[in-house]
Formats: sequence, C-alpha cells, structure tokens
Amino acid sequence: MKALITGISGFVGQYLEQLLTLHSIPVIGTTRIKRKEKNWLPLDLLSEEQIVLLLKMVNPSHIFHLAGISNVKYSWSGRKDVMEANTIATINLLEAVKKVNKRIRVITIGSSEEYGRVVKSKVSENEPLNPISPYGISKAAVSMLSQLYYMADNLNVIHVRPFNHIGPGQRLGFVTSDFANQIALINTAVLQSQKINIGNLDAIRDFTDVRDIAAAYYDIAVCGNAGEIYNVCSGKGTKIEEVLEIFLSFSKIPIEINKDKSKLRPSEIPVMIGNNEKLISKSNWKPKIALEKSLHDIYQYWLSKYLL
Ligand code: GDD
Repeated sequence: MKALITGISGFVGQYLEQLLTLHSIPVIGTTRIKRKEKNWLPLDLLSEEQIVLLLKMVNPSHIFHLAGISNVKYSWSGRKDVMEANTIATINLLEAVKKVNKRIRVITIGSSEEYGRVVKSKVSENEPLNPISPYGISKAAVSMLSQLYYMADNLNVIHVRPFNHIGPGQRLGFVTSDFANQIALINTAVLQSQKINIGNLDAIRDFTDVRDIAAAYYDIAVCGNAGEIYNVCSGKGTKIEEVLEIFLSFSKIPIEINKDKSKLRPSEIPVMIGNNEKLISKSNWKPKIALEKSLHDIYQYWLSKYLL
C-alpha cells in the first residue's frame, strides 16, 4: 500500500498517519496550506487540475479522503462552505482519480449524520438517508457520489459512516473537547469562575475513540469491498448528560452548570446508535478503547495544555 491522506493535519489524519507508519506504509498527506512536514503537501481540493497533478506525482494505491468540514453546529451558518469542502471537493477528487488511475482505492468519509432522524434503535447501512443538518446533507451527497462513481465509472470506492469519534487532540466545537477544556481551565485556575457552559444534554450518541476509528479505516481499506458502505461505531448509546457526569467526576473543584442557548442547533438528531456488524463480520476490527478511558485521556490532554 502507498497511502495518500487528504486533510492529514486534522484530528483523525494524524492518528491515521501514525497507524499506517507503524505498519511501514509510506504516507503522503495533503493540507490546505503549506506545512513544514516533508510528506505533507499543499493541495486545494477545489481545483481538480491540482489534484490530477498531485495524483500523477504521488501515485498512491489508496486514498483516505479525510479532508472536509466536520463541525455540525458550524454547518448551519456555513452551509455553502460545507457543501464546497465536503461535496464539491469529493467530486473533484473522484473526477481526478477517474482521469489518472481508476484502480486507486478511495475511502470516502461520511457520517452517521447522513441517516438523520431515525426510529430504529441501531442503524444499519441500508437505512434510508434522511439528513436534518446541512452537514448531514453534504455527507449524504458524498455517500451517493461514491456509489455513483462505483456504478457508473467502475471506481474502486468504499464509503464509511463513522459515528461520533472522540479523543485527545480533537478541536473545540465538539462536545467532549468543549466539556473537558472548560473543566481543565477551572482546575488549573486559568479560569476564576467555576461555571461551565453546556448545550443539549438529552441527546444520545454512539462514541468511538479516534484510535479505534483510525484502525477501522485501515481495516476497511484492506478488507472492504468496492462499492460498499461500512458503519464505524461502538453500537452503544450514551446520553450527553452521562458524558458530562464522567468529566465532572474528574474535577477536584465543584462545578456549576450553565445552560447556554447559543450552543443549541435549529434541529438535531435525538438518538443515534449504530449497528457495526457489517464491519465486524468483514474484518478483525472491534472497538477496543472504553468510553471512560477516552474521556480520561481527553481530560488529561486539556489539563496538560494549561499545566505547562
Ligand atoms: N459541540 C458541543 N458542545 N455539543 C454539545 C455541547 C457543547 O458544549 N453540549 C451539548 N452538546 C451536544 C450536541 O447538541 C449534540 O447533541 C452532542 O452533544 C454531540 O455534539 P458534537 O460533539 O458537536 O457532535 P455531533 O453529534 O453534532 O457530530 C459529530 O459526530 C458526527 C458523527 O455522528 C461530529 O464529529 C461529526 O463530524 C460526525 O460526523
């Protein structure tokens, strides 16, 4: 395998690079702007011409297309941005692959947000798509495009639908980072107030550690079938309130909760739990890192930022 990771500097990208390197796989990554890392190349995914040139130069056997906007809340105010970064960028990439080498295996990254409002307790890959956020719509389009390029152009594409993934290094704007960061600020006395701002605590989400997510992407690239879609999830639902309680149990200082209306979204999925049987039956993958360990590591990550 020779891997190309778009969006290598992002949250999952850095973990995937580490994992592939551990397997002695050569990795080239792309970022929007030039970085100092020798194997990270600048690429504008809105330019098909640039992608064609890069593919000819790098000649990858596999592409992990991680680049895009992943913040669901932001997608409400940045609808056009999200369609460009997620959907148009993917069309450009698939068009470029079609021109340069149809044998390249492309892993496109979707989301459980594609399913939207569902009534089933555990959502399988064949559930009809009913997205209810601009982000979900952009990823549903990516999913349909990957199927289209497989059927119409015989491209070697696999689409994955990760559910919520968390871990040290995730940016602010995602629930576990938002909670852990505020509690760490209080515990390191950077913040004098003992109040944290929170959004909707009633939602139920299916959390998987980013290290397990990176392992799943690798296994799917190796064992998955072209044209297929794979959920990547733990199969367990956790209420956001419970996540908050676990973080609060790490705090040495009593903390007050402030319900912040600006953190709410115009609409959101109340319960999202996935069925991971398809991936488990196809590969050796299973989630290994327990939620409590992920939350502990996330909290330590934010503490260490302020203890320096
Ligand atoms: N971000 C955030 N911040 N969310 C909060 C907060 C807060 O302070 N308080 C409560 N929440 C609630 C949100 O309203 C949502 O119900 C839940 O916590 C999770 O929010 P996020 O972490 O922002 O994730 P998401 O579910 O909207 O989307 C994530 O998962 C998708 C897969 O299911 C993202 O990682 C997407 O990129 C990913 O595709």
